[in-house]
Amino acid sequence: MRVLLVGGGGREHAIGKALVESGAELFAVMKNRNPGISRLSREYLLTGETEIGKIVEFANEKRIDMAVIGPEAPLAEGIVDELVKNGIGCVGPQKSPARLEWDKSWAREFMRENNIPGCPEFGVFDDIESAIKFGESLGEYVIKPSGLTGGKGVRVKGEHFSTVSEARDIMRSMIPSHRIVIEEKLVGEEFTLQGFVDGKNVEPSPCVQDHKRAFEGDKGPNTGGMGSYSDTGYLLPFMEKKDYDSALKIMTKTVKALKKAGMEYRGILYGQFMLTGDGVKLIEYNVRFGDPEAMNILPIMRTGFLEVCEGIVDGKNASVKFMDKATVCKYLVPAGYPSDPKSGARIEINAKEEENLKIFYASVDEREDGIYTTTSRSMALVGIGDDIYSAEERVERSISLIKGDLFYRSDIGKRELVEKRINNIKNLRRGS
Ligand code: AMP
Ligand code: GLY
Repeated sequence: MRVLLVGGGGREHAIGKALVESGAELFAVMKNRNPGISRLSREYLLTGETEIGKIVEFANEKRIDMAVIGPEAPLAEGIVDELVKNGIGCVGPQKSPARLEWDKSWAREFMRENNIPGCPEFGVFDDIESAIKFGESLGEYVIKPSGLTGGKGVRVKGEHFSTVSEARDIMRSMIPSHRIVIEEKLVGEEFTLQGFVDGKNVEPSPCVQDHKRAFEGDKGPNTGGMGSYSDTGYLLPFMEKKDYDSALKIMTKTVKALKKAGMEYRGILYGQFMLTGDGVKLIEYNVRFGDPEAMNILPIMRTGFLEVCEGIVDGKNASVKFMDKATVCKYLVPAGYPSDPKSGARIEINAKEEENLKIFYASVDEREDGIYTTTSRSMALVGIGDDIYSAEERVERSISLIKGDLFYRSDIGKRELVEKRINNIKNLRRGS
């Protein structure tokens, strides 16, 4: 089976590896040459991920059977609609159901209209004064631009702004290009549930928790994600089975409502949730795997990923099984990331992959004399173990073998931070 992979980050390296290991013949499209993906591919095209015309031409020329779309941007631009028109089945939704991610105001309204549980109080506004009035009536609130911002557009009261005049300034900067979504501020622990969707059903995977802040102790600016962990038994240490079931129910109801509305969803659905004192709430949907979260679940999948993809495309999900293992993923990023990243620094990699350690390349530049940083996340290490702490130790043992002007968050997956999460939820449950 000739499979086209679109995207060139750490997530796509993990997808490509899972595809090749399960028997796919890989072709790739990416903007920068990801050394991991280029080595796995039979052929690749270096071009922007939203160059839909060029990508479809490449797919036709290479007689591609199926495509897997990694990032959101091409999905929002309708790449799947074009590939399907050319007879190529896709893992990734068409443009209309992909709206769950590219239009946050529509996603919220869709949830409300279809009585999907887990939706916080919200309002959608085109004018600043009405948005302020609604936000202030909620007390604590968040301001979101409706469109795609790479996960960096949300502003939370008490963290990013506190006064009405600061809120106005934020909205003013958003309004030329976005509608404004105001939501009640959710307090609790975030987790991600990624599901394989065949149009009707959601086949779930173990939950993952990402770390968005750049620095240790959850300090500093938001990033694309600095690292993530998953535990044995599908749950995270602060979750109960009923929380997992609530999240899965929210996703399943959404998929069924989409189908009923004539927008069949085939691909990966990523639900980002907040476990609050008042149960599980949906923060947002992404219409693709998470980056880094894909790197937690793909290496421990027992079912061949190619078979899973074929199930999605054929409208009949495979039953997806995972090893009962914990994982910890840590990203190495260039010094200064994310505000002032230093690109062009040479990286020396002495770590080696083995059964319990995976290495995924992200945004690096491979030159004749070595591998260099760009301005985005460079590479990720994933440790696999019988519990979170042994997986974390596995990463730490190898991460020191990678040299360069880079940094990472040593605290991800360590006992202190995990216990902080557990205590946070204990206190919230007690208070509710
Ligand atoms: P998003 O771009 O929707 O993933 O949001 C980025 C981050 O903003 C999330 O990971 C949350 O930490 C935060 N966030 C988004 N919506 C809310 C909300 N309603 N309440 C509290 N935090 C939120
Ligand atoms: N890790 C967050 C995302 O992929 O959107």
